[in-house]
Amino acid sequence: MAHFLAAAALGLAALIAYYIVNSIYVLFFHPLAGYPGPKLWLVTRIPNARALRSGQLMHRIRQFHQQYGPVVRWAPNELSFISPEAWRDIYGHHGPGKDFARNPLWYPRAANGAHNILSADNITHARIRKLVAQGFSEKALREQERFIQCYVSLLVTKLQAAAAARRPVNIGDYLQFATVDIAGDLIFGEPFDCVAKEEAHQWVKVTFGFFRRLLGGASLLMVAPYLRPLLPYLVPKRVQEQARQRFAFSCAKAAKRLALGEAPDRNDLITYICRYNNSPPEGKGSMTMSRAEIEATVDILISAGSETTATALTGTVQYLLRNPHTLAKLEAEVRGSLRSADEAMSITHTAALPYLSAVLHEGLRMCPPAPSIRPRLVPGGGAIISGGFVPAGTSVGIPPWTAFRSPANFGQPDNFIPERWLPATPEGGGMAIHPHEVQVFQPFSYGPRDCLGRRLGWAELRVLLATLVWHFDWENLSPEARWEEQVAFVMWEKHPLLLGLKKVHK
Ligand code: HEM
Repeated sequence: MAHFLAAAALGLAALIAYYIVNSIYVLFFHPLAGYPGPKLWLVTRIPNARALRSGQLMHRIRQFHQQYGPVVRWAPNELSFISPEAWRDIYGHHGPGKDFARNPLWYPRAANGAHNILSADNITHARIRKLVAQGFSEKALREQERFIQCYVSLLVTKLQAAAAARRPVNIGDYLQFATVDIAGDLIFGEPFDCVAKEEAHQWVKVTFGFFRRLLGGASLLMVAPYLRPLLPYLVPKRVQEQARQRFAFSCAKAAKRLALGEAPDRNDLITYICRYNNSPPEGKGSMTMSRAEIEATVDILISAGSETTATALTGTVQYLLRNPHTLAKLEAEVRGSLRSADEAMSITHTAALPYLSAVLHEGLRMCPPAPSIRPRLVPGGGAIISGGFVPAGTSVGIPPWTAFRSPANFGQPDNFIPERWLPATPEGGGMAIHPHEVQVFQPFSYGPRDCLGRRLGWAELRVLLATLVWHFDWENLSPEARWEEQVAFVMWEKHPLLLGLKKVHK
């Protein structure tokens, strides 16, 4: 017994000595020792993991930037940047084999073991992206507009019924129903019937719960990286089963759509994947995807293409409600732009409304749907980022929400001012955006892995917001709602935003 106690005491003493020596190394001799940051977060991962687990990580990183400036060392081997040039330095194209790789901890493969477009290494990604990109062209969008208009019309019918019954709606939910149905039809060939049933499909609920679990797992690995092989045993069986069922459901849906083949009359996102996978254009033979890669990628496309748009719109609506003068200006523009309620709020029509566009830019700035750092690894040889040398293997990134809300980048950063995006002419009535602000504002990310669905996303944002403004007067039934009080697990966890609606047109 005495021997055992002596061995245990020795072991504990060795551990404490290791911890002290390691802390001294991390604080004073580590290659990143010159970068400022919270000391406690450098000597222990516990506060970091707790912030991640509670959805508060990006709030803490924002506080650190307010305290330490444009570069923060927020973990022993991780740097966060908010300067405009960091987008190019980190996420830009640096030549073959030199682009910063994604940190795989944050981008797991699909359940079938295949890479999806987000998790793929840079070489696999370039092949997948070439193929998937075909469905996001200007021409493809023109052909796909009917999918958007179909669910927008159905949404209006449902909201009109709520208005007639004086029933308040949680507008965040309804926007998510519409964007999920649009994505479902464009990708799986059929909607999830969320708008029709006015409720979220089980697949949607489980998918968004997945982000919370992903970060739960990541926070555990952050404190104890050696537990990685045990992770499958630490995740509750029920959660694993839900994830398995969710992916099986996606695969079954994808199989049903793929069985239709190209289906040229649909011109959806799968039409283009099938067309070019089966017969790549001349000289583009490397542009093919395996069945497993297609399943993995379409599964990701639904959430990438729906939650993002719904979040930007919900945030924009919240800020419009808090700024009645801005809402009134938007109503004047939108309602003055069509002659009758029978005319459609088309993609082309809404793209020509400057104040609508400015409002949405400001909504994306205040509430970027992907608000947190998406970490990349500095390649061999190190790199210059924002004017400073960063050694190879360092995990680096930009937290968009912090960068867009920083007084170093925008004047009055916490105020909702769409005019900042309009030209400073007497007719424009704007403030003229500074090139520095344009450069830092990258809600769709930057470089060879930026958002493929940006054009489709913009079309949905414009059509949905203009439609809501055209058809309804809004009454704010959640005056206490504050966007910045929400937590985020990869995506924002949105609080209810209740609206009372009144029909504008008979
Ligand atoms: C307001 C709307 C949207 C925003 C703000 C947004 C933002 C983003 C961001 C920040 C990324 C980079 C993700 C990362 O690096 O981890 C991304 C990637 C992507 N987004 Fe979007 N997105 C939006 C709408 C859409 C839509 C409607 C689609 C259509 C399905 C879509 C499809 C994609 C795809 C396929 C990628 C991966 C691109 C690649 O890795 O090559 N997005 N998006």
